[in-house]
Formats: sequence, C-alpha cells, structure tokens
Amino acid sequence: MAQLSGNPDVPDMGRRQFMNLLTFGTITGTALGALYPVVKYFLPPSSSAGGGGVTAKDALGNDVIVSDFLNSHAVGDRVLTQGLKGDPTYVVVESDSEIASFGLNAVCTHLGCVVPWNAAENKFMCPCHGSQYNNEGKVVRGPAPLSLALVHADVTEDGKISLTPWTETDFRTGEDPWWA
Ligand code: FES
Repeated sequence: MAQLSGNPDVPDMGRRQFMNLLTFGTITGTALGALYPVVKYFLPPSSSAGGGGVTAKDALGNDVIVSDFLNSHAVGDRVLTQGLKGDPTYVVVESDSEIASFGLNAVCTHLGCVVPWNAAENKFMCPCHGSQYNNEGKVVRGPAPLSLALVHADVTEDGKISLTPWTETDFRTGEDPWWA
C-alpha cells in the first residue's frame, strides 16, 4: 500500500516534464514561425522557382531540348508543351533555327477546351463550340471572348525552353493582358 501511495509522484513528474516540453515546443514553434518571413527575406530570389518561370516539358514530362525540337518540327508549327502551372502551352517554330519569343496558352477562353492548331487553316480552331484564333492566338471568331493568353518563351543556356509569365501589353491587341 505504501508503495502504491508513493507511485503517483512518478507519473506527476513525468507529466510536469511533458507539460514543460509542450510549453517549450509551443514557444519554439511560435518563435520559428515568426522568424520564417525574416529567413525567407534573406534567401536569394534564385532559390524560388526562377521568377515564376518553368521549363517547357513534353508529353512524357521531359524537358524540351530546343535543338531536337527544331529538328523534329516544321517552320510555322505550333507544338504543345506543358507550361506554367502545367497548362498546355504552344511553342511556335519561328524558323529552322529559332522558336518565337512568345508561347500561347492552349486553353480556350470560352469554356476551357484545349484548342488544337490547324496548320491547313493557319488557325487555332476549338472543337467544342467553334471559336477560332489566328496564328498568334488572337480571337477571330466567338463565342470565345478573349485571345489565348501569352507567355514569354526563351532558350536557356543549357538549350531548354523557359516559359515565364507575360505581364506586359498584349502585342496583338495593344491592351493590358487580361490573364495577368
Ligand atoms: S470551349 Fe472553345 S469554343 Fe467553347
């Protein structure tokens, strides 16, 4: 009996230590949480996703290599890649040695179908409700209300394609970009 009555002290100590630990953990967690923005501020911007850009990927998820890309597509082709936020994005074959400096988000501005490129018609033609866009993605027939969104397309030093947000004037309309 004497042993039993002495026992409750042991769990009490354990509980107190546990509570201490909890308190310490809470304070530490709060302090770290408060420090996070400070730490983040000092990290170089290059450690975030390249200023909001992505490397264009093919259907298998591999980075598109520009030299292979140009060798395997005809001048004037608009070729689907995976772009910003994983959106299907056309890269334009400008010449046999160059891609265009703009890419086009392939999502129809009507109800979101992926708009196929029709080389014979030199247009993007949406199969869902008949919207059409010219070869630069400018809407030329409704019901789509807006042109296809632009992105910047640049060749990186290691020969891949960097796609970055287009926040400047839409060169097709002279207006601010509706997607930015
Ligand atoms: S989704 Fe393209 S025309 Fe409706």
